[in-house]
Amino acid sequence: LGSTLHYHPTVTSTQNLAHEFARDGAEHGTVVIASEQTKGKGRMKRYWDSKAKVGLWFSTVLRPHSLEPKNATQITLVAAVALANVMKEYGIPIRIKWPNDLFIGDQKMAGILTEMQAEQDQIDYIIIGIGMNVNHEEADLGSAALEHATSLKVYTDEHYNLNTLFKSIAHEFEMQYERFIEHGFKPIKYDWEGYAYKMGEWLTVRAQGEWDAKLIGIHEDGALKVVDEKGQEQLLYSAEILWS
Ligand code: BTN
Repeated sequence: LGSTLHYHPTVTSTQNLAHEFARDGAEHGTVVIASEQTKGKGRMKRYWDSKAKVGLWFSTVLRPHSLEPKNATQITLVAAVALANVMKEYGIPIRIKWPNDLFIGDQKMAGILTEMQAEQDQIDYIIIGIGMNVNHEEADLGSAALEHATSLKVYTDEHYNLNTLFKSIAHEFEMQYERFIEHGFKPIKYDWEGYAYKMGEWLTVRAQGEWDAKLIGIHEDGALKVVDEKGQEQLLYSAEILWS
C-alpha cells in the first residue's frame, strides 16, 4: 500500500484525484496525498477542513475484487481499526464512533470517507480517504473546533512527523486489509468492538422515527447492533445516531 504514491502540495481534494487515477487504471494500493486541500470532502457532503502541513490528508485506491459490493462498507471499519491500532502504539486512547470517526475523549481527531465504484455486483474500485488532525494548535482547528474537533498535538502537546505517521498507518492498514481479505470481517469486528465509543450506553437513534437504543456491538456484516426499549435486538444499516 502506497508503493505508488502521488504527492501534491495543494489539491482540491485527494479523493477526487484518486478517482481520476482509478478511472485511468491506477493499481490497487495507489495513494494520493496532499499537504493542503482547498475543498476537502467529509461524509454526507460536509466540508473537511484541511489546512496546509498540519494534518494527514490522503486517499487510497483499493481493488478488492473478491468482495461483494454490499460488504464494501466493512472496509471503512477495517481502516478505522488500523488507525486505532497505530494510535494505540502512540499511546493515544482512541474510541471509534460508528461507523468511522476516531475520537479522543468526546472529540473527533480523524475521519474516513469511503466511496465505491461498482458495476453489476462487481466492485471496480474503492477510494478510502483518511483525514487526521495531527499538528493543529487549538487555534488552527477553527471552524472544526466548533464541531468538537481535536488534534494529536492538542491532546499530547507534542509535534508529530507526518511522514513517519503516514508510513505507520499505510503499513498497518495493509496488514489489516490483508487479514480482512483472508479471514473475512469477523476478527476485525471484535477489534472494532474493543474500540467502540459509548459501548453499552443508551443513545437516541433516528431510523423510522426517533427512539432510544443501547449500543451492544456490530454485526458480522458491519451493521450497528442495538437493543431497543423492549429488549429487542435491532441491526442498523443506515440509521443516524444522535450521540448526545
Ligand atoms: C468524515 O469524517 O466526514 C470523513 C473525512 C474524510 C477526509 C479525508 S482527507 C483526505 C480525503 N480527501 C477528502 O477530500 N476527504 C478525505
